[in-house]
Amino acid sequence: MPTAPALSPSAISPNSAVQSSPPKTASVPLPGSQPAKSAMSLKIYISGKFYDKEDAKISVYDHGLLYGDGIFEGMRSYAGKIFRLKAHLDRLWDSARAIWLEIPMTKDELAKVVNDTLALNGIKDGYIRLVVTRGAGALGLDPNRCSNPQVIVIADHIQMYPKEMYENGLSIITASTIRNHSAALSPRIKSLNYLNNIMAKIEGLQAGCVEALMLNAKGEVAECTGDNIFIVRKGVLQTPPIDAGILEGITRDAVLDIAGELKIPVQQIPLVRHDIFIADECFLTGSAAEIIPVVKLDNRVIGDGRPGPLTRRLTERFHQLTRE
Ligand SMILES: Cc1ncc(COP(=O)(O)O)c(C=O)c1O
Repeated sequence: MPTAPALSPSAISPNSAVQSSPPKTASVPLPGSQPAKSAMSLKIYISGKFYDKEDAKISVYDHGLLYGDGIFEGMRSYAGKIFRLKAHLDRLWDSARAIWLEIPMTKDELAKVVNDTLALNGIKDGYIRLVVTRGAGALGLDPNRCSNPQVIVIADHIQMYPKEMYENGLSIITASTIRNHSAALSPRIKSLNYLNNIMAKIEGLQAGCVEALMLNAKGEVAECTGDNIFIVRKGVLQTPPIDAGILEGITRDAVLDIAGELKIPVQQIPLVRHDIFIADECFLTGSAAEIIPVVKLDNRVIGDGRPGPLTRRLTERFHQLTRE
C-alpha cells in the first residue's frame, strides 16, 4: 500500500482534503477522440472534477467514511452502454430520499457524468460504482452539519467470478448473520453501510464459499450478500418478494422481465431453506455476477448438482439483452 502524503493542519477542514493538494484534473474528450490509454491512471470523478486514481480522495471527516452515511450503485456497461442506467439512477434517488439525502445534481447530469467517465477511461465493458456521501461534517452524528454531499463515479474493469464457477455452479452456505430487519434499516436502501452483508460474506469465505445466503428475522430466505436468489421448482421460477427484506435488484427485475417474455411462470413468494434444498435449480443475480448457478446449499446438492436448463435459457437471453 502506498503511504499517504501528510496533510498540513490547514488541509483538515470539511471538504478540503481533495482541494488541499492541487488535483490533476482531466477534461472529458470529445466524442470520437482518443480514449485514455490503459497504462494511464484511471480518472475518477468527484463532485465536478476528474482526478487521477492516486489523487482521488475525500475528507476523513466525510460521514460516508465516519458512519457509512451515504448511498451507492454498482452498474455494468456492455459495449459502452450502461445496462438499465435509468433504473440504477431511480434506485439511487430512492435510496437518497429514504435517508434524507439531497443529491446535488439531476439524474440527467449524473447520467452524463457516468457516460463521460466511461469514455474518458476508454472502458466499454466495465463496472461503474456511483457513490454519494453525506459530505464532511463534525465528528458527531448530526447530518445537518454536513454541508457538501460528495458524488463519486468510478469506472473500472470488473473482476468476475472465475469461468468455472459459471460452468459448474457455486456451493454456498447459509450465514448465521441475518439480513437487516426492514424496520431497522431497509435492505431496499443501497446504503454505504454494508457491514450486515460483510459479516455474512466473511462467514461464507471462512466456509470456502464466495457467496452466502442470508435469512430474514422470520427465518425466511432473503438474499445473498451481494446478489438476489431464484429457484426453479417443477418449471416455476420462484424468488422471495421484496417484503422478505431484500434489495430490489435490477438484474432480478431483468430476469423477471425475461421470464415474462419467455412465458415462464413466476412466483414471488416467501421461501425457506427447505425450498432451496428441494429445488430443481437455483441461481443468483447481480450486476457484477450477472446470473450464476448455485448447485449446493449447506452441503445439500440442488437438483442434479449441475446448472439447470432454465438457468441456462435465462442466462442466454440475459446476455442478449445486455447487448441490445
Ligand atoms: C444485497 C444485494 N442484493 C442484491 C444485489 C443485486 O442487485 P443488482 O442486480 O441491482 O446489482 C446487490 C447488488 O449490489 C446487493 O448488494
